[in-house]
Amino acid sequence: MEKKRVLITGAAGFLGSHLCDRFIKEGYYVIGMDNLITGDLQNIEHLFALEHFEFFHHDVSKFVYVPGKLDYILHFASPASPIDYLKIPIQTLKVGSLGTHNLLGLARNKGARMIIASTSEVYGDPSVNPQPEEYWGNVNPVGPRGVYDEAKRFQEAMTMAYHTFHGVETRIVRIFNTYGPRMRLNDGRVLPAFIGQALRGEDLTVFGDGSQTRSFCYVDDLIEGIYRLLLSDYALPVNIGNPDEITIKQFGEEIIKLTGTNQKLVLRDLPVDDPKQRRPDITKAREILGWEPKVNRAEGLKITYEYFKSLPKEALFNKEHKDFTTYNK
Ligand SMILES: NC(=O)c1ccc[n+]([C@@H]2O[C@H](COP(=O)([O-])OP(=O)(O)OC[C@H]3O[C@@H](n4cnc5c(N)ncnc54)[C@H](O)[C@@H]3O)[C@@H](O)[C@H]2O)c1
Repeated sequence: MEKKRVLITGAAGFLGSHLCDRFIKEGYYVIGMDNLITGDLQNIEHLFALEHFEFFHHDVSKFVYVPGKLDYILHFASPASPIDYLKIPIQTLKVGSLGTHNLLGLARNKGARMIIASTSEVYGDPSVNPQPEEYWGNVNPVGPRGVYDEAKRFQEAMTMAYHTFHGVETRIVRIFNTYGPRMRLNDGRVLPAFIGQALRGEDLTVFGDGSQTRSFCYVDDLIEGIYRLLLSDYALPVNIGNPDEITIKQFGEEIIKLTGTNQKLVLRDLPVDDPKQRRPDITKAREILGWEPKVNRAEGLKITYEYFKSLPKEALFNKEHKDFTTYNK
């Protein structure tokens, strides 16, 4: 039987590369696409020798052409960490808007089903906790994070419009903080920032008083949730994340314990519009997809720490490493 063909944008990134692995494992023909602006080909180099994998080096904010049939499109291309989207704000807005428009056009043309990677950031600095899908959010469009949050909100609106107006089959996953191997040490997210600091023997930087909360989901759990949502018949947004909420201060203490270092936590000013709380309400994922996270934080952190320890020493002292201590995303 002919293999089903799936296009994965952002394929060389953290989540995109894990999705490529999963779809290869499930027997699909996988077409990866990425412009490598924040991704790294090393994440998918093990796939290049496979017959049923191919890669297009392309910016999806420009017209996207893919020969042959397509059954599914997973749109995961977008800068995703505060360091990245503050450095490249226009590209971030473009990939969420023009990129999504291009890919929805492709989905319509090919009769493919498309899932977009939305984010808990559509809830902004939320006034309800945990956040259910029905919550409309509290986002500052002109603040520094607006370029990401509003691009993602527009992406959802455009996707729903293609669904209702053109009948394209669409799915929307709202992803909460996810971690695991292949994250970049210097991407500004709190977990690699803390682990990088611990490995370099530096104190761990906490922004604000550390009472802000996050909920961390291990990557394998997230990928399972995305896979189930794509194959479901549910078109409205679904939160996928781990509801096990922790303060940034407690999280820093866990990392110090895990890495066996003697570092301290040092407090710095909280960045503008930093969300004070973040915890997914996953009732819908449980009911519609029969999904819930399986990997607890202790297990997931151990695997992730081993991954970071295995990286060459130069990765720890990358020239950008000073930049990434500005956020506890
Ligand atoms: N990791 C998380 O915790 C998280 C949380 C919420 C949402 N998301 C979403 O998931 C997706 C993937 O995030 P990630 O953590 O893997 O980030 P990442 O930076 O590791 O991967 C993003 C990939 O997209 C590529 N890309 C960016 N702009 C592009 C363009 N115009 N054309 C082609 N490729 C482009 C990058 O080069 C990179 O390989 C993003 O859409 C992000 O918003 C991630």
